[in-house]
This record gives sequence, C-alpha cells and structure tokens, in this order.
Amino acid sequence: MRFGFFDDQSREYVITRPDTPLPWINYLGKDSFFGLISNTAGGYSFYKDARLRRLTRYRYNNAPLDMGGRYIYLRDGDSSEVWSPSWMPVRKTLDSYECRHGMGYTNIRSKKNGITTNTRYFVPLNSALEVWDVALTNERDAEAQLDVFSAVEFALWDAWDDSTNFQRNFNTGEVEAPILSREGDQEDVLQSTIFHKTEYRERRNHFAFFACSETLAGFDTERNAFLGPYRGWDNPLAVENGQSCNSIAHGWQPIGSHHLKLHLKPGEVKRVIFLLGYHENPTDEKFDLPGSNTINKASVLPVIRELLSPARVDTAFSELREYWKELLDKFIVCTPDADTNRMVNIWNAYQCMITFNMSRSASYFESGIGRGMGFRDSTQDLMGFVHIVPERARERLLDLAATQLSNGGAFHQYSPLTKRGNNDVGSGFNDDPHWLVLATAAYVKETGDLSILDEMVPYENQPGTEMPLFEHLQRAVQHTLDRLGPHQLPLIGRADWNDCLNLNCFSETPGQSFQTTTNRDGNTAESVMIAGLFILSCQEMVELASLFVSSPVKEKFVFFDPAFYTEKAKDMEQAIWQAGWDGEWFRRAYDAFGEPLGSHLNEEGQIFIEPQGLCVMAGLGVADGKARQALDAVRERLATPHGIVLLNPAYSCYQLRLGEISSYPPGYKENASVFCHSNPWVMIAETVIGRGERAFDYYKRINPSAREAISEIHRCEPYVYAQTIAGKDAPTHGEAKNSWLTGTASWNYVAITQYILGIKPTYNGLSVNPVIPDDWEGFEAKRIFRGVVYKIKVERRSLLNSIRLTVDGQIIEGCIIPIPPEGTREVNVLVELK
Ligand code: GLC
Ligand code: GLC
Repeated sequence: MRFGFFDDQSREYVITRPDTPLPWINYLGKDSFFGLISNTAGGYSFYKDARLRRLTRYRYNNAPLDMGGRYIYLRDGDSSEVWSPSWMPVRKTLDSYECRHGMGYTNIRSKKNGITTNTRYFVPLNSALEVWDVALTNERDAEAQLDVFSAVEFALWDAWDDSTNFQRNFNTGEVEAPILSREGDQEDVLQSTIFHKTEYRERRNHFAFFACSETLAGFDTERNAFLGPYRGWDNPLAVENGQSCNSIAHGWQPIGSHHLKLHLKPGEVKRVIFLLGYHENPTDEKFDLPGSNTINKASVLPVIRELLSPARVDTAFSELREYWKELLDKFIVCTPDADTNRMVNIWNAYQCMITFNMSRSASYFESGIGRGMGFRDSTQDLMGFVHIVPERARERLLDLAATQLSNGGAFHQYSPLTKRGNNDVGSGFNDDPHWLVLATAAYVKETGDLSILDEMVPYENQPGTEMPLFEHLQRAVQHTLDRLGPHQLPLIGRADWNDCLNLNCFSETPGQSFQTTTNRDGNTAESVMIAGLFILSCQEMVELASLFVSSPVKEKFVFFDPAFYTEKAKDMEQAIWQAGWDGEWFRRAYDAFGEPLGSHLNEEGQIFIEPQGLCVMAGLGVADGKARQALDAVRERLATPHGIVLLNPAYSCYQLRLGEISSYPPGYKENASVFCHSNPWVMIAETVIGRGERAFDYYKRINPSAREAISEIHRCEPYVYAQTIAGKDAPTHGEAKNSWLTGTASWNYVAITQYILGIKPTYNGLSVNPVIPDDWEGFEAKRIFRGVVYKIKVERRSLLNSIRLTVDGQIIEGCIIPIPPEGTREVNVLVELK
C-alpha cells in the first residue's frame, strides 16, 4: 500500500495522506541552521549542534506521535471552527492534503471549508533562519474572516538539560515580546517579532527570533497562557477563543505565537511570511544600553527585514533549487529501472548529503543529544558525497584525521561545535582507523588532489603533534599490525564495525553500556571482518604510497614503500585462510576464549554477512572459487525477500561472551535484522565475481523506492534508506526502523554507481566496468569527474562482462578512461559489453 508517489521531475516525494505509518520526514538547511520536518509539520530546528543549540522543543517518543513542530492554526470567524492546515496538531479532517518533500524544503498544501493553505518551509542558502512562506486562498463565494495563529515552543538551548533540569529551567526562561503597533505608528518588524533570550543575560551571546510579515492582533510567549491549563497543542485556548493573551513568559515554558486577523475577499490570496532564526552578537555588544538586559538588535533587524519581503523569499527559494540542481546534476543515470534512476539521481544522493551534515546526531530515531560525528560513520559517509562537495569532503577528512590518536587509533566520535574527539560513546573500536584510509583514497581518486596527503595534521587535536596526513594513514595500518591476536588476525578491541559484537565486555549489570564497559584484557578476541578491511586498506596504501613517494614532506617520518603494504596484505590473507575460512564461508571472529564465531561449529550465529562481503571485496577466493562458495552460502542462509540478514541463526538468548548482539530479540538490529549498511558489501562482492544479476537483485530488495508499494509493511519513508529491516526471525519481518542517518546511504550509492553501473573514479582516470543484470540492454550516464563531463553509453552485446571501450571515437585498452588533455570539457564514451 502506498501513502504517496514520487514526482521525479520535481525531485519530490508527494505524500497524499497525513496519517503515514510513521512521521515521514525531511531536512532543511545545509551548513549551519538545520531543521527536521515531518509531513505534518512536526520537528525542530537547531543551529549547528542538535544538542547544544536547539531552538525549538520536540517531544521524542510521545503520544500522540510527533509532538512539537512548526504549527499554524486557522480559526474561521464565522463558524469558530479550528483546524491545522498541516493536520497536526489539531487533527481535524481536511478536504484535501498534500505534502511535498523536496531537496531542502517541504511544502504542505491543504484545503478545508473553502480555504486553501499552502506553506513552504525552507532555510535560505547562507542564512541562520527558516522561512515559513504561507499562502492562504479564499475559494469561497463569500468573504472569509480568519484568525491565524503561529506556534513554536522554544527549547532552552541545551536539549539534554532542557528535558531534565526542571528545578532550574522553570525559572530561567526569558523573552522580549513584540511592541504592538498603535494607530499612526510606523510599520516596523519590532511590532511583530518575538525574541527568545533565555540565559542571554548571562553567558550566552545568542538568541532566537520569530518574526511575521503582518501586523499582529496579538501574541503569546507563555505556553500555559496560550494553551490554557491542562490543555494540549491540539486545542489551545487562545485559538479556541480567537484571541491571544499577549502573555510574557517569566520562566516556565517560553513559546512564540503570533495572532493575525485576516479578511479575505472571494478569490483573494494572502501571503504571510514567518521567520524563525538564530542570531549571535559579539559578547561586548550584547545589550542595547550597556548594563541593561535588552538584546542589542542592530545586526539582527536587517536580517529579519530582508527576508520578510516576498520578493526576496522567492529569490531565496530559486537559489536553493538551483543549488540542489547543480549538486545532483553531477551524476545522472538513465537505466531501464526507474527505482535505480530515482535513487541515484535524487534520493540516495540527497540522503548522502544529509548524513554528511548530520552524521548520526539528529533524526526521528537519533535524539540529537546522544551522538556526535562518528569517526567510522563520517569516514564512510564521505564515500557517498565526495563527488558532490569535494572541497567540503577535504575539510571533513582533515577534521577527522586531527582527532586520530597518535598510536594510529581513533576517538570514536567528535563534537561538531568544537571538532574535538571524545570517548563518550566508547573507545578502542579497532576497525575505526581503516576507514580513514578508505575515505582518503576515495577523496584522492575523485579529485586527483594529492596535496591532501602532505597536509600537516595534529593527533588528538594537540598542537605540536602535526604530521602529514599520509603518516596518519600509515599509523592507521600500523595500529592493526600492533594488535594481532593468537591467529595473527586483528584483535577486535571493544568491537569492530559491528558495535554489538562485544567480545571483551562480559557485562552482567543491567543498563550498563556495552559500548563503554570492558572487562577482559582483549588480547585474544579477533576479527575476520577487520582482517578483510585491513587488506582493502593495504590495497589502497599500495597505490597511495606509490603516489606519495615523491612528496616533499616524505622526510618528516619513516616512510614505508608500497611493497610493505603488499606484503602485509599477503600475510593477512594467509592468516584468513588458516583461521578465518570455515570450509564453506568466512568465519566472523574468535571470542575471548579462542572459540570461533560464524562457524558451522556454532549452534547459533553460524554465518555472518560482514566477512563474506569484505573478504570477497578484497579479492579473496576469487581465483579458486571460494568467493563464489561464500556468496552462495549467503544466498542460501542469509538472503530474504526483504534483504540479507546480518547473521543466521539468530541468537535466541543473551550470551555473556558476545555482548550486545545477543541482547536484541532475534531478527532485530545486529541480531539478524537486515542491517542494510552491510548489504552493499555483498552486492559489490557479487560484482567482483561477475554476477550482475545477483548484485542487482540484492540492490532491489532493499531499495526503498522499490519497496514503496509495501509501505504498510516497511513503514519508514520510501525515499530514503533505513538502518534496519526486521529479519526473518522477527515477528515483524520486513518492517524498517531508523531511517535517514545510516551508512547504508553511502554504501548503497557506492555499490550501484561504482560497481553495478561500474562508473568508478581511480587515480588515473574514470573507470567504466559495469556488471549489470542480464535483461538490461545497457544504460546511459552523465558524470562530472575532475571538472570534465563524461557522457557514457553502455551497450550490451552479449551476456558477458568484458568491456570494449571507445573514447571519443578511439578504442582504448582496459576500462579506464585516461585523464583528457587540459581544457577538455566533454568526453564521449561508448562501452560495449561482450
Ligand atoms: C550503527 C553505527 C555504526 C555501526 C553499525 C553496526 O549504524 O552508527 O557505526 O557500524 O551500527 O553496529
Ligand atoms: C547500539 C546499536 C548500534 C549502534 C551503537 C552506537 O549498540 O545497536 O547499532 O551502532 O549503539 O553506539
């Protein structure tokens, strides 16, 4: 069952009823001011950091669902009927409803009692505010008298403190209310702007503003006055009465609500603009009249005035559209499959940009207070957006590398405000450093910018410890070499990519964090997953080292040449064949007692997805058929119609020696759900052994667009990937959870574009080596690579995968299109599959 449809032309998903199975959300903003917005206008906004600079209050996990948002209430002057044009929070049935989530904006249009309301929410480029651009149309034959109320609830900045520290917070709230205009007053934004300034009197130098383009009939800034005692957002007293209270918040819960009285003639359209924004003043210029507590508004008023103008709002919106068009036009494909096209061209790329901005901090499943920018998460996310915003990828890489530990390990996360690493969500995840190698390689291949390897970057953000980025990568590899276990496989540490494989934890205390507690010395438990990753990392180092060999900063440290990495990769491969191969597939790990996991010797957890994907990606067993064997085992034991589960059989009971993985009921999360992040590894592995049919089949199984028709089962948004889909052992098999912020976005993007469609950046040029399904006759693509437009046409001449490449009319050996001469704008490529 569907709850909407894709409008690919407009790059929008159109939701046609408000009661979706879960709130289906979108994101506003691109670099500092951000908002989450649901299809019924729920959500919240923040400046840079979802925890420390939260503007508005949102109630996670509440009933009714999705409480807190960007609300507008309409009250009909004739009948006194009240409704929300976004359905929530009043939930009065609307005569028509449509929500369009687009690239960086959301538009909600509805009609009731002959009044059409069309609201567009967006954050203009380079602004620290969001616009609510509301158009009201009277489609009645008679004049309409409408009371319009806006409403937001302010959060007291630190979202964690805001939801816990009531003994203080009920006393601190402060606002500055609009100065209502009187007859003869000159129009001014101060007459319609509400300022939220809690803690501004002391150490904060920032405040929020909520402005409106119209003359106000009243306002409210105190929640209790607006809602009325013991009432909810679904029936505020002020709205019911058709009159605000002009309340001033002193402590308790500051809100912002404007009240307008509109008279619309038949056919008349009225446009009202609201602005919700964030502003900072220099600390020595905070107050208007030094010594007072009044906000100095000299620098904020021009910002507000500018964007209250409808013409400026229109331009700002076109600029936003143009911005996204330019980003997404960098890679466009036209394949025989509509789900592939729309994910690659629109939604998957968009989701990659969102994970770039949010990492795992703020979604409807991540509360914005728990997690900062993850080291392994952000490095993997980078692979999905590096071609879209290469300059920002460069900056991100250097920020991440600066948090690396001097022993080559990594802080597991850093705070986006301070860019400093911390151990709040644990440390010692031994896979972490390798993702830095893979991400750097992805960046250099995309851009050809070798200078990044020479950049002097500190360790642990400590001045004086700077070393070239290349040395950071060397230490990443060394980190594993310094930590080999009894089988010469990498020690797992606290956990590897699978955060829940806590083989050294042994936690018996309820509620104790599996991520921060370790009870064993950790010198025994080993990871085959890291072993596979290590080989992939060494393969990149071989190439990077041969490029770095002539660098001017090479003398600053002990340089290992490419042969070193070739040899270390070989040793690791040996170790895998000796202890990591189970006979029919790759084992997963060894526990703290030296017992294998992911082996036929186990009763549960006999086979895991990660090493099958990663080891074959690294090329293991491709020549002698073991790769095929491992992938056939995946097919037989792990594949379901809803995707490939993480392991099988699921763990039925909690096991002390395994940790969090066995804490989840069977079929959920790391305990055998379809953990979508790891599925593309198998897709890629299938292309490595030339099985395009299977690779694409797996791709389709979890492609959200391809699952749109079963939205009542899938339940999450059909336009973005979710982290998990309940596995075959779960009673709710097929149900997705944790949409948006997941490494699934970048890895699926990489799998489809670089391996199935086969368009892959390399150091020496763009490689085109598709491994596509049998029934495709070919496809076309346009890819901007290092400033040149590549127009690629792939034609199938047989069912085989060998390539004949013709570049601008010339047949070329191999599958890499050489870098064209300086000044070339366009390259035309014909790829024949023979
Ligand atoms: C979550 C984490 C990620 C981890 C994965 C598997 O998605 O963000 O870092 O690799 O779970 O446990
Ligand atoms: C839990 C989750 C895992 C996530 C981790 C983050 O362990 O199961 O998916 O990566 O928390 O700390």
